[in-house]
Amino acid sequence: MNIVLLGAPGAGKGTQAERLAEYLGIPHVATGDLFREALRQGTPLGRQAQAYIDRGELVPDQVTIAMVEERLAQPDCEPGVILDGFPRTVEQARALDRVLAGHGRKVDLVLFIRVRPEELLRRLSGRWICRDCQGVYHTLFNPPKQPGVCDVCGGELYQRPDDRPEVQRHRVDVYLAQTAPLIEFYRERGLLQEIDGEQSIDEVQASMREAVIRGQKKKE
Ligand code: AP5
Repeated sequence: MNIVLLGAPGAGKGTQAERLAEYLGIPHVATGDLFREALRQGTPLGRQAQAYIDRGELVPDQVTIAMVEERLAQPDCEPGVILDGFPRTVEQARALDRVLAGHGRKVDLVLFIRVRPEELLRRLSGRWICRDCQGVYHTLFNPPKQPGVCDVCGGELYQRPDDRPEVQRHRVDVYLAQTAPLIEFYRERGLLQEIDGEQSIDEVQASMREAVIRGQKKKE
């Protein structure tokens, strides 16, 4: 299945995508992670994206679409993919349809993780990420066993520069203006399933797996 995760910054897309990808045995493709990796490696793509990410703005559509198109052409994506953070604009959603159609595929399911804005800010403020495997933690809601150290790979945990309070708020505003219209875009196409993102991490995952099973039955 080709699954899109939709939700505001801090809604839990990355946290849930990791688990869902493991459950379904398909890759988790997160545009934010791809940009941060390019940035870490100092590639032209990373340098181009940096100013936008630092300000909490979206990287231009053409750049983002080209990056995703290249990633989706890789063989590990053939059985299906979980897209986290893409599409984020209607133009990206239309491009995704075109790219998938080129491989004889389509978007099968869109899981929209709904979380109230005040909860989003609480989550972003306490978030820690592993530098090596991108594992996601939270000081209160999902603490690592040892502070500052990833449970999975032992990597160093850090706080994202775009999680600074002023940038967080701007990212939520950008989401409301540019990405939230995708909720209706996908609802009108009968692809959207809404998930209550304010349950515990395990409960959200269980709701998502139920939605995937319903989606698989519909596809058959
Ligand atoms: P990106 O990295 O995609 O950031 P985002 O969408 O802002 O999403 P986040 O990673 O902040 O949140 P999340 O929903 O994954 O939440 P998480 O699971 O970490 O994008 C960064 C930047 O890259 C953008 O601003 C833009 O510049 C650029 N970019 C990326 N994609 C682009 C695109 N398509 N087009 C243009 N530009 C693009 O969870 C958050 C915290 O909450 C964690 O600490 C977690 O432990 C905790 N948590 C999770 N679930 C729960 C729960 N149920 N209960 C309690 N705590 C929870």
